[in-house]
Amino acid sequence: MATLITGGSGALGTELKKKFKDPIAPTHKELEIADKKAVDEFFKKNDIDIVIHAGALTGIRPCEENKQLAWDTNVGGTRNLVEASISSKRPVQFIYVSTACVFDGHSGMYKESSIPYPENFYALTKLLGEHEVNKLPEYLIIRTNFVAKKKWPYPKAFTDRFGTYLFADGVAEGISDVQKANLHGFVHIVGDKKMSIFELAKMTTSDVQPMTIKEYNGPKLTMDMSLDTERWKKYHISDP
Ligand SMILES: NC(=O)c1ccc[n+]([C@@H]2O[C@H](COP(=O)([O-])OP(=O)(O)OC[C@H]3O[C@@H](n4cnc5c(N)ncnc54)[C@H](OP(=O)(O)O)[C@@H]3O)[C@@H](O)[C@H]2O)c1
Repeated sequence: MATLITGGSGALGTELKKKFKDPIAPTHKELEIADKKAVDEFFKKNDIDIVIHAGALTGIRPCEENKQLAWDTNVGGTRNLVEASISSKRPVQFIYVSTACVFDGHSGMYKESSIPYPENFYALTKLLGEHEVNKLPEYLIIRTNFVAKKKWPYPKAFTDRFGTYLFADGVAEGISDVQKANLHGFVHIVGDKKMSIFELAKMTTSDVQPMTIKEYNGPKLTMDMSLDTERWKKYHISDP
């Protein structure tokens, strides 16, 4: 069983690599997912049975400022992996890591059946990535929300943006669980507690300072990213 993990150097990819046995996890340099030829050749050279597609351009601001790169990576890159999986001689279990940000964030506690309506270009490209994955006869699309379990990287954190957060290791565990359970369709991997980003940041960084959206200047943000699930269990966010 060979598992391909894209985005293996990222926050989630680093944890996914610990959960799956001997994964093939090329760096961005080793596999440019936006390059269709490179992706096709990679699939021909490696006997891939499982794809966990976590590679993406993830910053809200970089996606807004470089829409072509965001499009090529998040939509085109996903399409390339889907098409290579369809062309593969082996059956491929395809798992796509999407985001709570596909929803508008006006109400929160979105279920798998809720209707997406992205607020920014990053979220739009992730939603369009979902539609690429939808072309596979069988797929698993995971929507989630997490941060790396490390010191908060900014001096402040929002008190008025919310999520049902997990740390990246918790999401990796959830992905491993639903992969083993062979689930298909859409599944939300979520924490059992809705909290503000400030509360989340406090868990790793006691001196982080509160801020509100009034202090923010930038692309439109999803305010309430909390997710519910009608398909899977909720996870308890672990203490750092
Ligand atoms: N973090 C969150 O809050 C969050 C929430 C929900 C969902 N997600 C989704 O979860 C996944 C992982 O997120 P993350 O926070 O772990 O991301 P991250 O830390 O930003 O890492 C992204 C990874 O993707 C790779 N990558 C970017 N462009 C690529 C390309 N063109 N070809 C190949 N690899 C490329 C990066 O490699 P380089 O760094 O070398 O470019 C890196 O390994 C993403 O799909 C994201 O949309 C994230």
